[in-house]
Amino acid sequence: MQRFKIIGTGSFLPDNVVTNDELAKTVDTSDEWIRERTGIGARRYALEGATSDLAAEAVRRACDDAGMAASELDALIVGTCTPDTLFPSTACWAQGKLGIQGMPAFDVMAACTSWMYGIKVAADMIAGNPSLKIAVCGAETFSRILDFEDRRTCVLFGDGAGATILTGTQEDTGLLASNWGSDGNLASILGVPGGGSAKPSTHATVDAREHFVYMEGGKVFKHAVTAMSSGVLKALADANLTADDVDVLLPHQANKRIMNACLDRTHIDASRVFSVIEKYGNISAASIPVALDEARKAGALVDGHKLAVTAFGGGLTWGSGVIQM
Ligand code: UT7
Repeated sequence: MQRFKIIGTGSFLPDNVVTNDELAKTVDTSDEWIRERTGIGARRYALEGATSDLAAEAVRRACDDAGMAASELDALIVGTCTPDTLFPSTACWAQGKLGIQGMPAFDVMAACTSWMYGIKVAADMIAGNPSLKIAVCGAETFSRILDFEDRRTCVLFGDGAGATILTGTQEDTGLLASNWGSDGNLASILGVPGGGSAKPSTHATVDAREHFVYMEGGKVFKHAVTAMSSGVLKALADANLTADDVDVLLPHQANKRIMNACLDRTHIDASRVFSVIEKYGNISAASIPVALDEARKAGALVDGHKLAVTAFGGGLTWGSGVIQM
């Protein structure tokens, strides 16, 4: 077990709501198709600011929730695949916007799995020094990398940020079990091909629309179901728990059908899932911390609960765990 306590959570979703019907005015799609195939009803697009603005606000709110100043943080970890800039890190941009300095701020890049990877990194840091207070934030502005000429991807993603503050504890709370992994042999099936060192930005990469999200949806879907359900089952087995012990399940929220397939395979009751996909779409690294924050604020997730989390994303990457709240 890796002991820590979640002492604060916060989230920030831009005000600007974009419904399926609004998208259908410019893209060849329909509310019916999007709801049936994904469970998404709307998403938020940030009209201004960058990923770090969303991250900074989510961290600020999480610090308020924890009753501490952001300056008391010992580390700021941001998980994102829509960074402000290639470098410096979005965490550093967010640190500046929070008006704090000194503590290490760095990004974790595991696409939609980034928050889960960040939690693993923070748990390891706290194991070495339980006095640390660490913010793990998942933040995305996917609206900036969507190809609105590709209906297979542009309807899926949205913008948002969620943050979680962790610190060491003597209590029996924290990660009861966890696992994480990746398969770089499948790196090409989900990502943004252009703009990095492999394909530096040129007029040709812009013309070929290579600065937008590319996804082979069917392949990603199958891997997501397998990795997320087997990850949860392994974490439960490693913690000597069964599906019935799970009070709340927060799966990465990419597609309602993926979430339902995970329920089928893990035999976790559907009533245990806390879902935000209908209103926010796939917010990638932000999906679990936003759902976690909303579940806590709604009273659906309380101290004493066993929380199962499972994430999956480009890389391919995955990570699952059971958190004793
Ligand atoms: O967060 C990171 C991980 N991401 C994921 O886990 C996403 C995984 N993938 C998925 O969620 C699903 O594969 C999608 C939602 C992306 C696609 O669903 P699908 O059931 O796999 O649909 P499909 O790609 O097989 O397309 C079925 C049909 C196609 O038409 P034809 O070729 O059968 O005539 C598509 O052109 O649906 C069409 N289609 C659409 N129609 C209306 C695809 N996108 C749309 C759309 N509106 N937005």
